[in-house]
Amino acid sequence: MLQYLQQLWETSSLSPHGICLLWRPELIWTHVTADALIGLAYYSIPIALAYFVSHRNDIQFGWVFWAFALFILACGTTHFMAIYTLWVPDYGTEALIKIVTAALSVVTAVGLWPLLPKALAIPSTDDLRRVNEELKQQIKERNEALAALQSEKTERLKTEDMLRQAQKMEAVGQLTGGIAHDFNNLLTIIIGNLERLDTQLRDQPDALRRVKNAMEGAARGAALTQKLLAFGRRQPMSPERLDANVLVEGMAELIRRAVGETIEVKFALAQGAWPVEVDRNQLENALINLAVNARDAMPEGGEFTIESRNLIDPVIGEGERIKGHFTLLSVSDSGEGMTADVLSRVFEPFFTTKPVGEGSGLGLSQVYGFVKQSNGHIDIVSAPNRGTQVRLFLPRAAAQSEAAEAASALPLGGSPLGQPG
Ligand SMILES: Nc1ncnc2c1ncn2[C@@H]1O[C@H](COP(=O)(O)OP(=O)(O)O)[C@@H](O)[C@H]1O
Ligand SMILES: [Mg+2]
Repeated sequence: MLQYLQQLWETSSLSPHGICLLWRPELIWTHVTADALIGLAYYSIPIALAYFVSHRNDIQFGWVFWAFALFILACGTTHFMAIYTLWVPDYGTEALIKIVTAALSVVTAVGLWPLLPKALAIPSTDDLRRVNEELKQQIKERNEALAALQSEKTERLKTEDMLRQAQKMEAVGQLTGGIAHDFNNLLTIIIGNLERLDTQLRDQPDALRRVKNAMEGAARGAALTQKLLAFGRRQPMSPERLDANVLVEGMAELIRRAVGETIEVKFALAQGAWPVEVDRNQLENALINLAVNARDAMPEGGEFTIESRNLIDPVIGEGERIKGHFTLLSVSDSGEGMTADVLSRVFEPFFTTKPVGEGSGLGLSQVYGFVKQSNGHIDIVSAPNRGTQVRLFLPRAAAQSEAAEAASALPLGGSPLGQPG
C-alpha cells in the first residue's frame, strides 16, 4: 500500500500536461481560463448552498444540500488541479482528489435516488396555497361559529338575568304580600279595639287624645300595608271594563295639580283605544304615582305626556314579545332619567334614591303589582338626562257578552284608593 502511494507521487518520469498541448498558448490559456472559471463557480455554489441551508431550519433532507456542497467543492478542486498539472506533473495528488470527488459524487448520487419519492411527496407551492385557502375558509367558518356562539351566550345570559329578576320580584312579592296580609289583619284588630275604646273613653279627654294618636298611627300603618299588598298582588281588586282615554281625561286636572305649574302636561290619546278591564282606583293610583315620580325627576320643569295606543303582540322590555291585544298607556317625562343600575331595581319595594322622608320606594312597586295582578305588563325605558318612559300594557277587555253587559250594569264594590308612593 505504502509502495503504491509512493509510486503515485513518483513524478520524475512524468511530464506536465502542458507538454501534451505542446505549450501552445491558445490551448494552455483557454484551458486555464475555463478551468479557473469553473473552479471559482464550483467554489461559490457550495458557499451559497451552505448559507441557504444554515439559514433555513425548515429545509427537509438538509444533508443532501451538504452532500452537494461537498461534492461540488471537490469538483471545483479538480478543475484547479487541472490548471496546476499543466505545469506540474503532480498526477498523484490529482488522482487522490478525483478519488475523493468520486466518493462524494457516488454517495450523493446513491443517496439521491431513494430520496426522490419522498421529495416528490413534499407538497408543491400550489398544494400549499390550496391548503392555505382551505385553512383560511375553515378559520372563517370557525370564527363565524364562535361569534354565533358568543351571541347565543349573551342572549342566554340576558334571558337568565331576566328570569332571575322575575324570580326575585316574585319571591319579594310573595314575602311582602304575606307579611302585609297578616299585618292588615292585626291592624284590623287594633283599629277595632281602638274604636271601641274611643266610645268608652268619651269623658276622659286625656286618654281619648292618646287613643286618637294611636288610631292615626294605625291608619298610617293600614295605608302602608295597602301599598305592600298592591305590590304583593294581594290587593282586593275590582276590575271593570273601562275606557282608559276617558279615565285619563277625567284625571287631567288632578294630574296637572300633582305635577305643578312648571311642568307642561300633554295627552296623546289614540282614537278608538280598546277598552281595558282593570280596577279603576288602582289605575288612577298608578297614574298619580307616575305623575309624582315625573315631578320629582323634573325639579326645573319640563314635559309630562300620557299617550294611549292599541298594540297586538307587542315587544316589551329587552325584546320579549308578548302575545295578545293590549292597550298601551305610556307615561313619559323629560326629566333626569335613571342609570341602568337604578332602573334594574325600581320595582323593588322600599327602593328609593330620594332623601329620607321624601321617598318611600313603594310607588313603582305598587304600579308593578297592580299591572301584574291585572294580567298586564310593565316596562321602563330610561337613561340619564334622557327622560323616562313607563309603559303599562293593559290587556284588552274581552268582547262584551250579554251576560257581561248585564253584570257591568250592577254596582261594583270599590277598593280604597292607596296614596302615591
Ligand atoms: N320618572 C322618573 N324619573 C327618574 N327616576 C325615577 C322616575 N320614577 C322613578 N324613578 C326612580 O325610581 C325610584 C323608585 O321610585 P318609587 O318606587 O316611585 O319610589 P319613590 O318615588 O318613593 O322613590 C325613585 O327613587 C327614582 O330613583
Ligand atoms: Mg314615587
